[in-house]
Order: sequence, then structure tokens, then C-alpha cells
Amino acid sequence: SHPLRLGIAGLGTVGAGVVKIVRQKAALLAERAGREVQITAVSARNRDKDRGVSLTDYAWEDDPVALATRDDVDVYIELVGGSDGPAKASVEAALKAGKDVVTANKALLAHHGQELAELAEANGAVLRFEAAVAGGIPIIKALTESLAGNEVQRVMGVMNGTCNYILTRMEDGGLTYDEAFAEADGLGYLEADPNLDVGGIDAGHKLSLLAAIAFGTQVNFDAVELEGIGKITIEDIRQACDMGYKIKLLGVSRMTGRGLEQTMTPCLVPASSPLGQLVGGTNMVVVEGDQVGQIVMRGAGAGEGPTASAVMGDVMDIARGLRVSTFGQAASSLKPATPAQSTMP
Ligand code: NDP
Ligand code: HSE
Repeated sequence: SHPLRLGIAGLGTVGAGVVKIVRQKAALLAERAGREVQITAVSARNRDKDRGVSLTDYAWEDDPVALATRDDVDVYIELVGGSDGPAKASVEAALKAGKDVVTANKALLAHHGQELAELAEANGAVLRFEAAVAGGIPIIKALTESLAGNEVQRVMGVMNGTCNYILTRMEDGGLTYDEAFAEADGLGYLEADPNLDVGGIDAGHKLSLLAAIAFGTQVNFDAVELEGIGKITIEDIRQACDMGYKIKLLGVSRMTGRGLEQTMTPCLVPASSPLGQLVGGTNMVVVEGDQVGQIVMRGAGAGEGPTASAVMGDVMDIARGLRVSTFGQAASSLKPATPAQSTMP
């Protein structure tokens, strides 16, 4: 059968990681998908930048929109970032052209997920975003496919690698906030605007996406009750430790009789619990389903390899002809997400 032709916009931490996998594992991917998976064109801001991988085999586009609509691109992979601007314009252009889209962009989806999913549906395209939530952990596929026989009661977890890295390095490594932040930057964890990380907004974006998938609702990021880690001091961390607790930026979402609850706030968790033992950029997602009980998934939540791994999982599903919709059901059938009045003090 025909090769699957990829167009990749954004060649930073994640984009360069995806290019490396496609180049280094070409034979394995072809064997697994039953067809070749090839890159035909790429886009970024600076054509001359060394990205640690050769790009000479691929066509270059300065404009992601031009890349997204090329005739020789079957799947548009958006790894530019940002809730609007070129990311949104290019994803819209690709979907309107009937091309499948894979993205890691939780900010885009938290703000425009519903309209983009409807656009995909209207144009017979698939929109996938495994990498947007909890990096390398395959939580979206688990919810939409493997757990599809369950009614989910609660989803919760630690979903921002940067925050968990900073909190645990301040504690275990005795680093200052600024030192821990600089290390997280060096590992490729930070958003282009790191206020999204430390302000809890990025984790809130992810929780709003998981809630929509788990409960079959439209994304309602504005209803997430949010607080970041900016006010937490080394003294808070030490005091928590002395009492046998750790501080985690923890997200919880559940459907109640009053509506959808979504909170993303610093919480005390017992030091000996699985959540308490989570260090560095590791994320953990906990799902409670009426049939399966509790499932815990743990793994790298950020960085080049883990995030590119999740992007490639989506690409491989498309290569194999799997056409499962973004939210696990038709976008037009998602219910409005009425927020429950918070019961938190
Ligand atoms: P980077 O900042 O490392 O890379 C962004 C890329 O986009 C760069 O190559 C940049 O070009 C390119 N770019 C920016 N603006 C434009 C534009 N106007 N036109 C063309 N190209 C443009 O980001 P990441 O790789 O870290 O993140 C990419 C996406 O993945 C984001 O949505 C992020 O939220 C998401 N994500 C990131 C994770 C991570 O661990 N880093 C984990 C999960 C999701 P240039 O290099 O020339 O400047
Ligand atoms: N900035 C994000 C984080 C990247 O630190 O978790 C992964 O989504």
C-alpha cells in the first residue's frame, strides 16, 4: 500500500524527537504499520538551526499553513505550540483540507478542542493528541479504547513534569526554586511561556481534556479551579516532609449529581503513597471505572523521547487505518460540561 506521508511543523524538543524516530526506526515502523511512514516536508522558524538530525531529505516550508495543506502530506503533525496563532491556523487549514492531524498542543485543544473536533468530523479527518496529556503515558488511548466499556467515576493525577521536577528537586536535591527551574529547562520540559507550567495552567489544560474524554463532555477549561506552585516555599516543603507528606500539584475530576468537578491545586499526599513517591518529570494518572476499578499509569510526562513516543503512537494508529475520533465519540455528541459549584474551602 501507499506510504503514509507526514508533514511536521515545529522542530523543537518534540518535533526533532519525532523526526529522529521516523528516521531511525523506518524499517520497524513499516513492518508494524504494513506500509512505509515517511516525512515529506517540515517547517520551523529558523531554517539554519542545527536540530541534531538531518533535514536535507525533506521539503521546507516557512509557513505551517502552507505545510499543512501540501498535496504530498497525508498527516499534519503540529508541534509548534500556542493556543492560537500559527498552530491554530495550520490545524484548521489541515482539517478543512481533510487531512488527519496529530498534535501535542494541549493549550490549543483546551481552548479550541470542541470546534477543532467538529471541524475534523465535518471533513472526515481524524484529530489525535495522545502527547498532549501526561507526555509518554498512553492515557487517552486507554480511556477512549481499552476502558470504553466503563463509566469513569474519577480521573486524577500529577500531569505537569516541570512542577513535579521543581518540587522534588527542591526537596531531594536541596536546590533553590531558580536552580530547579533551570534544570527543568535544560531537560526540555518547559512550555514556551513557563508561567503556564508553574501557574498550574498547563496541568489545568490537560485535566480539562481528560475530563472531556472520560465523561463525554465538551472541554471546559474555564471551569477548572486552578492554583499553581508559585507560592510554595522550601519551608512549606520541609514542613510537609516533617509531617510525612509531600506537596504535589494534583488534578482531580469527577462527575457529580451537581455537574463536573475539576480542580488542579497543590495538595498534601502521604509520602509513602505512590503519588508521594513520584519524583522528577514523572507523571501519574489514576482512573476509576465502574467495571475495572482503579488503574494507575505512571511514566515520563515531558521531554523529547517520551513525548515523541506518544506522537508516534497516534501516527501509527493512523497508518494502520484506525479512525477513532479525538474524544472517543463524535464531537457533535459531546454534552456541555456544566461545572459543579466547588466544595473546596
Ligand atoms: P519548542 O519551543 O522546543 O519548539 C517549538 C518549535 O516550533 C520550534 O522548532 C520553532 O521554530 C517552531 N515555531 C515556533 N513558531 C513558529 C512559526 N510561527 N512557524 C513555524 N515554526 C514555528 O517546543 P516543544 O517541542 O517543547 O513543544 C511543542 C509542542 O508540544 C507544544 O504544544 C508543547 O506544549 C507540546 N508538548 C511539549 C512537551 C515537552 O516536554 N517539551 C511535552 C508535551 C507536549 P525554531 O526552532 O526555528 O525556533
Ligand atoms: N511543560 C509540560 C510539562 C510539558 O512540564 O509537563 C509536557 O506536557
